[in-house]
Amino acid sequence: MERLDKILSHLNYGTRKEVKDLVKKGYVSVNGNIVKNSDIKVDPSKDEIKVLEEDVNYQEFVYIMLNKPSGVVSATEDPRYETVVDLMPEYSKMGIFPFGRLDIDTEGLVIMSNDGTLAHALLSPKKHVDKKYYVEYSGEFKDSYFKRIEKGIQIDDYISKPGKAEIICPGKAYITIHEGKFHEVKKMFEALNMHVDYLKRVEFKNIKLDEALAPGDYRPLTEEEIKGLKEVL
Ligand code: URA
Repeated sequence: MERLDKILSHLNYGTRKEVKDLVKKGYVSVNGNIVKNSDIKVDPSKDEIKVLEEDVNYQEFVYIMLNKPSGVVSATEDPRYETVVDLMPEYSKMGIFPFGRLDIDTEGLVIMSNDGTLAHALLSPKKHVDKKYYVEYSGEFKDSYFKRIEKGIQIDDYISKPGKAEIICPGKAYITIHEGKFHEVKKMFEALNMHVDYLKRVEFKNIKLDEALAPGDYRPLTEEEIKGLKEVL
């Protein structure tokens, strides 16, 4: 169960205050009854919510930015762990899924959507979509590593595609890669005798993680952000 105002503002009907106003004016109904109080809790997977007689789930495609918390898996279903879809119940009936995966202990930017064509294009290795990570690591980052990361590093049975490292200060760095194989950043650091202690994705193509989003929070992408993502099509 989730507060009605929270659900509607997540679905882009306005800020919490604007949504409160919509509800006060009698524009919102739940299961056929006009409601006047936006604090009420509803179950978006069961209750029928309408704004001005329009089903709130009328949108064909949704595009959401999530700040994934640690402990949550990047999947649509999981027998043991909470999933990124479980975090956003108002979208659960719309067939949303994450664009790519972050490890269970990795935090940060995940794009959630039900647009399979766009997902396919963005995740295609041919498109070289940049993903930038903030990394806290232990060990020494030697000067020669910048070149090695740019050239590609031997990991298991493959060589990583060229990446870019920027050191913030000893123990903290940004790494940009465009491939995103399983555990790629962690394995790159291991291959260079370092260890990733904390990993957070901060950028995905043109999308920058909104700093106003605490872990577990999410918001719809803006028109401009969606336009930038769709440049791959
Ligand atoms: N690289 C990793 O090692 N883990 C992630 O979650 C993402 C990239």
